[in-house]
Amino acid sequence: MPHDVPGDDAAPTAPQTFPPPADLSQNANARATLYDEAARDRLAFWKSRTALLSWDTPPTQTLDFSDAPVARWFADGRLNACHNAVDRHIDSGHGDQVALLAEYEDGSDAQYTYAQVRDEVSRMANVLTDLGVATGDRVAIYLPMIPEAVFAMLACARIGAPHSVVFGGFSADALRSRIEDAGAKAVITADGQFRRGKALGLKAAVDEALASGADSVEHVLVVRRTGADVAWTAGRDVWWHEAREGASTEHEPVMVDAEHPLFILYTSGTTGKPKGIVHTTGGYLVQAAYTHRNVFDLKPATDVYWCTADVGWITGHSYVVYGPMVNRATQVIYEGTPHTPHQGRWWEIIQKYGVTIFYSSPTAIRTAMKWGEEIPARFDLTSLRLLGSVGESINPEAWHWYRRVIGGDRCPIVDTWWQTETGAIMISPLPGVTATKPGSAQVPLPGISAEVLSDAGEPVADGEAGYLVLTEPWPSMLRGIWGDEQRFRDTYWSRFEGRYFAGDGARKDEDGDIWLLGRVDDVMNVSGHRLSTTEIESALVGHEWVAEAAVVGASDETTGQAVVAFVILREGAAADVEAAGGEAAASEALRQHVGREIGPIAKPKKVLIVTELPKTRSGKIMRRLLRDVAENREVGDTQTLADSSVMDLIQKGLAPKS
Ligand code: WT7
Repeated sequence: MPHDVPGDDAAPTAPQTFPPPADLSQNANARATLYDEAARDRLAFWKSRTALLSWDTPPTQTLDFSDAPVARWFADGRLNACHNAVDRHIDSGHGDQVALLAEYEDGSDAQYTYAQVRDEVSRMANVLTDLGVATGDRVAIYLPMIPEAVFAMLACARIGAPHSVVFGGFSADALRSRIEDAGAKAVITADGQFRRGKALGLKAAVDEALASGADSVEHVLVVRRTGADVAWTAGRDVWWHEAREGASTEHEPVMVDAEHPLFILYTSGTTGKPKGIVHTTGGYLVQAAYTHRNVFDLKPATDVYWCTADVGWITGHSYVVYGPMVNRATQVIYEGTPHTPHQGRWWEIIQKYGVTIFYSSPTAIRTAMKWGEEIPARFDLTSLRLLGSVGESINPEAWHWYRRVIGGDRCPIVDTWWQTETGAIMISPLPGVTATKPGSAQVPLPGISAEVLSDAGEPVADGEAGYLVLTEPWPSMLRGIWGDEQRFRDTYWSRFEGRYFAGDGARKDEDGDIWLLGRVDDVMNVSGHRLSTTEIESALVGHEWVAEAAVVGASDETTGQAVVAFVILREGAAADVEAAGGEAAASEALRQHVGREIGPIAKPKKVLIVTELPKTRSGKIMRRLLRDVAENREVGDTQTLADSSVMDLIQKGLAPKS
């Protein structure tokens, strides 16, 4: 059993379950027979799921795992992802169906039908081609949650140019390192983005990133959003609205092999360097479409779907762009924050568009709980029929609140476990089939094989905890880490030979249902976003005042975990710290520094200045003890410390100030 698993005591002993509503069981896309079908012949099951897509050349092959751990799925098939997400709906007579209901932060809006999306995407594909972007070239996308972000991803897919979306909240430095790692040839960005009513720059960060590296970039395509003045590099920068004018709406999608890379998405690992997770086309789309159809029960003609994720994360890739659009969803995309201009903004949007399926995160639900249930009560949420959750475990209290206050005690909740690496949902109840259990993601989807293993690699008994692994390959699995095959093998496939180790602790309850217990590595989960302790430590140590830094994820009521940093200042920094206004001001300056280096999401909640850090005799920082301090708990076993008085020193040093 993993010793560092947080929240192991969180599960109630006999949780209540909620059987599916009878009408849903009758009409649901998912059937209990899916489990039987997959159990009979897993590969035949996946092969028949390829019928969810439209293929230029339908595949005859299913899985080739001879080069394990690199898998090839449906490898002799040929298709185009954008054709599947857009054109084929027009071919089948649904061009006038609304694809995107775009809601801007200020309350203005825009709609795009599938036919209009095809026009926009075709124009952008033509513009990218004119700028020299060819099939196989990588394109970085750094945009807010506006329709152009969806167009940009699909335009890349249309020409077979893998996109690398970088979340708009990441810094210029983070953007540069991602551009460099992928060798991106072009960047698609906007002049700026609106955040809580303020126009913030984006193009400026691109300029900064390109000023000091990222030499592979030849052009920057700029969407006008805020209208703010931007610096301009003639010959390199191109306004989208100008290029669009002259661009044709005719464009033939480029058919690619099923294993052609569709995108790279960077995620934090246990080292300072983010990993470029590579996903390919056929298997990824099959599983994105299959899971979206069955887990969210999408009925394309009647549902209004809304996933609140940003396209900067995997959820935005699989459950805003590819899954929903391949399934011909009508969906809301929202540019802004949940509390701009008021704390009922999301519920107002559900009412405005009659949203029926809503997919969000435990952090968002806990924040809404904190704001009070009288806020959602002001809006008509009766259109909702299904709720989803992703990003971290949803604690039973938040689950019940979500079901009662948002779901009117009638909507099933699907708690979906998956990762950037898995590409699509892996563990989740099936609406209409599964009796849901608050706090548990429950069982692997039909076609997915997961286990909870002990330290020794044996499946644990029901009622016990261990490590979550995936024991068989799945269609939307990552195909590797961009440019670093060894790291791919080491990170995921070495802990348990031949099996994929997800990095999460899990417990199986008496019914065999899976409860996720959090990361067991040096990865934190803050508001459902993955952050690396090492990456933030290197940012801190990069500051001239800092000699040493240790970062931990301390449990936080709202965000799941919060970043807490412990730093030792350099001897010579004392005068500078004094000049900056003392230790409190220095902590704040260091917080801001991390925000600038990585992005606002990585900013520590607290930076604590200490004189020592707890280390083992071999020099490894004992984060467990620091977590005790950060969570105001009695400090645990200090026997393995090289100097056992260190914890006293740290606590004495912190006491008067906290
Ligand atoms: C990590 C993956 C998948 C999209 C969002 C995050 C945690 C995710 C759940 C859940 C418990 C969850 C895991 C996982 N996680 N969903 N339903 N219950 N934990 O993607 O950034 O790749 O992070 O998020 O720890 O390993 P990501």
